[in-house]
Amino acid sequence: MSTTDAGTAIDLRSDTLTRPTSAMLEAMRTATHGDDNRDGDPTVMRLERLAAERLGKEAGLYLPSGTMANLVAVLGHVSRGQEVVVDALAHLLVTETAGLVGVAGAVPRVVDSNAGRYDLDALERALAKPASRLGPGLVWLETSHNWTGGRVLPLDHITAVAALAHRHGVPLHMDGARIFNAAVALGVGADVIARPADTVMFCVSKGLSAPIGSLLVGSAEFIGRARALRRMLGGAMRQTGVIAAAGIVAVDTMVSRLADDHAAARRLAEGLAGIDATLVDPARVETNIVMLDVAATRFDAATWESRLAAAGVRVGSSGKAQIRLVTHRHIDMAAVERAIGVFAKLA
Ligand SMILES: Cc1ncc(COP(=O)(O)O)c(C=O)c1O
Repeated sequence: MSTTDAGTAIDLRSDTLTRPTSAMLEAMRTATHGDDNRDGDPTVMRLERLAAERLGKEAGLYLPSGTMANLVAVLGHVSRGQEVVVDALAHLLVTETAGLVGVAGAVPRVVDSNAGRYDLDALERALAKPASRLGPGLVWLETSHNWTGGRVLPLDHITAVAALAHRHGVPLHMDGARIFNAAVALGVGADVIARPADTVMFCVSKGLSAPIGSLLVGSAEFIGRARALRRMLGGAMRQTGVIAAAGIVAVDTMVSRLADDHAAARRLAEGLAGIDATLVDPARVETNIVMLDVAATRFDAATWESRLAAAGVRVGSSGKAQIRLVTHRHIDMAAVERAIGVFAKLA
């Protein structure tokens, strides 16, 4: 099996499983590089310029992971003891709190939300009356929204949140790990989604199929400081052009095909709802993530996970009743139909 072939199991655990394309491997082999942490790597600089241009910002910074890019954003915007206004199911809170609190010393301020969309009155109250006397330092948005099943923030919501934040003198950061999925779902450029935000993070390592890396974009002044913060965290690398070359191919050529992943996710949701309507509402599947609720079925989530794995379908469970399915480049429609068949047999 070559490194670009899909394996035999139907692996729906994450779009991070996507392996580099042949074009990426060739670009990596032939990339020119230098020392990114000394006098610069030309391929990394190209990727950073491309990212900034696609997101409509002045400058970009290449980092090893989305988690580090988000942490650098927090460190760049927020002083110790200031609040980061965030929704309860944001990846930042569910998975990255240790960095937010332990490294940045920021205070999470959770605001009521639905599918990543804030209750705007609650957001206004949080900004007007911070619990920390040091005040709010940052407002956070995530799109597409991972833990609510890849939901996409409406553009007018992003604009309204940015206006509120800015009225209180607080910047807006967008966790756009999958911003290109959101862009494809909305039928707009990623720059349109990013416009109201001061800084944006996106990953080339997820559905776009590059092996490694995330980009942080914003003003030239902010990215200059972010570069110093990246080094402080040990995230400055050397001949990084070797991997950044795949990121360029990802941004340049892999965005429009995300529509295939979205169609696969929708078909998967429809098929599963056809087996048991309590599992999922297909109308809520907007991108490449399908969140199942197995509470009304005969197995809990962990049992589903192990039984599905034994039948050749890999999924991720969390809690007693939630299963996350993610479609990606190695999941074609035939794999979707096979997965539905396996669910049907077990149900
Ligand atoms: C919405 C979101 N933000 C941030 C991250 C972190 O990215 P990484 O795994 O590259 O650290 C993820 C990873 O799944 C994510 O889904």
